Amino acid sequence: MTDVELMQEAYKAREFAYAPYSNYMVGAALLCSDGKVYHGCNVESATDTPTICAERTAISKAVSEGRRDFIAIAIAGGRRGSISPLCAPCGVCRQVIAEFCDDDFKVVLGTTEKIKICKFGELLPFAFRINDVQ
Ligand code: THU
Repeated sequence: MTDVELMQEAYKAREFAYAPYSNYMVGAALLCSDGKVYHGCNVESATDTPTICAERTAISKAVSEGRRDFIAIAIAGGRRGSISPLCAPCGVCRQVIAEFCDDDFKVVLGTTEKIKICKFGELLPFAFRINDVQ
């Protein structure tokens, strides 16, 4: 799957975003090593705290089905009706990504017209991981 195709999957995931409070809609497409894609969207809550981001939705779906072999994630976000030039994962999502992905994990940002590729290690250098705890 190409980076643009994975971003197209993030666009599809975004269609299900539930964001009546912020009106900021986000979709994520998480690619596994066999080509399977897990989709996630943000799901907001009237009491704010339970809100979950698109990235963590996708990761939780995959991990809860036994998958941890992630090779890339694409993220698309923007106010209802438009896609931002760049929607980077929040700090909480970066920490959750660090739980399952190494510094070489590919992060596909931007839009289908203008893709920006990062390595996860650029987004969260010196990540605190399981080996630091054990
Ligand atoms: N959001 C995500 O889903 N992913 C991000 O990377 C950034 C923010 C969501 C959370 C909230 O529902 C809305 O966007 C505004 O912060």
